[in-house]
Amino acid sequence: MDNTDMKNIQWFPGHMAKTRRAITANLKLVDAVAEIVDSRLPLSSRNPEMDRLTAGKPRIVLLNKCDLADEKATQKWVNYFNNKGITALAVDCKSGKGLKQFIPTVKTKVLKDLMEKRQKNGMTGTPVRLMIVGIPNVGKSSLINKLAGAKRAKVEDRPGVTRIKQWVKLGNNVELLDMPGVLWPKFEDQNVAIKLAFTGAVSDDILDIETLAMKLLVFLKENYPQSLVERYKIEYSDDETGIELLEKVGRKRGMMIAGGEVNTERASITVIDEFRSAKLGRITLELPEIK
Ligand code: G4P
Repeated sequence: MDNTDMKNIQWFPGHMAKTRRAITANLKLVDAVAEIVDSRLPLSSRNPEMDRLTAGKPRIVLLNKCDLADEKATQKWVNYFNNKGITALAVDCKSGKGLKQFIPTVKTKVLKDLMEKRQKNGMTGTPVRLMIVGIPNVGKSSLINKLAGAKRAKVEDRPGVTRIKQWVKLGNNVELLDMPGVLWPKFEDQNVAIKLAFTGAVSDDILDIETLAMKLLVFLKENYPQSLVERYKIEYSDDETGIELLEKVGRKRGMMIAGGEVNTERASITVIDEFRSAKLGRITLELPEIK
C-alpha cells in the first residue's frame, strides 16, 4: 500500500512514540497487562510491538467481539495464545458474555504465583492492578464500562487532546489502568489494513467502498461460501470475480439504476453493513498458521 492509499488513516508517529513511552513507564505500576483484540482478526488488530513493550509482565489476551466471530476459529485462537504461554479468553463486551471469568482467571491463572505470595505474606488487601491496552475500536471502553458497571465518558484519542491516564476501581479489589493514546496495528501490510477496514476499525475512506465490498465477497466466496448463498440466495462458480458477485447481490436486492445496470455502490454498502452486523453469519477473517 503506498502513501496515497494510506492518506486517510490517522498515522501519527510522534503520538505513537508518546504512547509507547507511556506504556513502558507505567508498566511498573501494574501486576499484569490485559490486551484486547478483535476475535475476527486477532493478529491484525494488535500492535505488533505489544509483545516487546510488555515483555516480562504477566499478560492476558481478551478475544473481544466473539459474538461476531466464528466459534471454532475463536477456539483455535485461544489455543494459539495458550501455546505461546499467554492466557486468552473469548469475551463479548457488548453483552458482557464471558466477562465474569475475566478477573477470576487473572487471579487464579495469570497472577497465580503473585496471589499465593500475597496470601502467604498476609497482603491479600493489596489491590490487583491491570493495564488495559488495545488498538482503537477493539472495545476498551466497552470492557471498562461493563466491568465498572457505569457508563463512563469516552475520551477521544487524538493528538492535541490531553487525556490523562486514569485508574478505574472495580469492587473486587481490582484497579484498571486505562491507558490514553493510540497504538495502531501494522498498516504497512495491505492485507492487515483491508481486514481492519472490513470490520470498520479504520476509516472507510482507505479504499473505495466498492473495492472493499468486492474484496470481502471474494474472501467470503473462498472461506464462507454458505454465507453468500444463504443471505443473498445467489449461485456462483468458483472463478467468479468480485464485481460479478457484487452485481449478483445488487440484482437480487433490486438495486438498479437507469439502463438496467446495478447500483454497485448501494450493493457495496449493503454487503459491508451486513458483514459488520453479522447478518452474513459469524465470520473470522484470519486463522492461526498451522505449523
Ligand atoms: P475502544 O474504546 O477500544 O475504541 O472501543 P469501544 O468500546 O468504543 O467499542 C467500539 C465499537 O465496538 C462500539 O460500537 C462497541 O459497541 C462495539 N463493541 C465493543 N465490544 C463489542 C463486542 O464484544 N461485540 C460487539 N458486537 N460489539 C462490540 P459502536 O458502533 O462504535 O458504538 P455503539 O454501537 O455501542 O453505539
